[in-house]
Amino acid sequence: MFSSDEFALLIEDLSLLPAISPTTRRLFEKMDDPEISLSAISSFIEEDPGLASRLLKVANSPFYPYSGTVGSVREALIRLGLSSSRGIILTTSLFDRIRGEPGVLDLWAHSLAVSMTSRKIGVAIRCPFVEEVALAGLLHDIGKIPYYMYAPEQMRKASRDLDIQTPDCRWEKELFGLDHMEVGARLVSTWRFPSIIRQPIRWHEDPAMAPAMERTAVLIVSLADQVVQGFGMGHMGNLVGQEGLFRLVEELQMTEDELIGLMKDFLFDREMIRQRSGSVL
Ligand SMILES: [Fe+2]
Ligand SMILES: [Fe+2]
Repeated sequence: MFSSDEFALLIEDLSLLPAISPTTRRLFEKMDDPEISLSAISSFIEEDPGLASRLLKVANSPFYPYSGTVGSVREALIRLGLSSSRGIILTTSLFDRIRGEPGVLDLWAHSLAVSMTSRKIGVAIRCPFVEEVALAGLLHDIGKIPYYMYAPEQMRKASRDLDIQTPDCRWEKELFGLDHMEVGARLVSTWRFPSIIRQPIRWHEDPAMAPAMERTAVLIVSLADQVVQGFGMGHMGNLVGQEGLFRLVEELQMTEDELIGLMKDFLFDREMIRQRSGSVL
């Protein structure tokens, strides 16, 4: 349907962010400016009530493990961190545009679930970049969004007709020339997210290929994706089976008890994620 060159051009277009509002685009330029103060960013966000309320909703949602309520944009930015705030604004803006398409709210719930689970794994193994893996989890399937934007008919067919899906995402390559990991990695690198966010997006379905530098982050997001999918909140993904799951756990040096704890936690949160995910979009 698309050749990889044609689809790559569309992705380049999307990376210029025409899909999101001019305010969001200007906000990202400001966030890229190393000289700008937090107060200046907060004031800019406050000028757009939609943007401000979206950030506050997420900061106060059960998807972020903080106690107490934040009442101002400034507090929300401090609580979430600038990089996560940027990721949340970007993802919610993109998802919001395609929310009417079948399967999209499931993909959103899946992304939130993978983000929460990635954070829990990060905490369990005491990794020093917990917020980064939580953000990578939120963004890990962002490469699927352009499919819904540019080829909604094909995606409707794909979600109805499981036959065209192959476990290794070959169907995405056949339809679009690029699979969702390649698309996602291209997007986040032009949006200037760092390698620790980009690599889990690029390799989460194929962690054996992950570069050594960001390997732990890739393994965390992969494991989170597997746990979430294994308990019924997947989105056209690939299950690696018990052996693959244990390989991830072993490489992360987690114990079996930690894995069981993680699974129990997810089962406990699953209904809440299903019910509440739509309200923060
Ligand atoms: Fe994926
Ligand atoms: Fe996924």
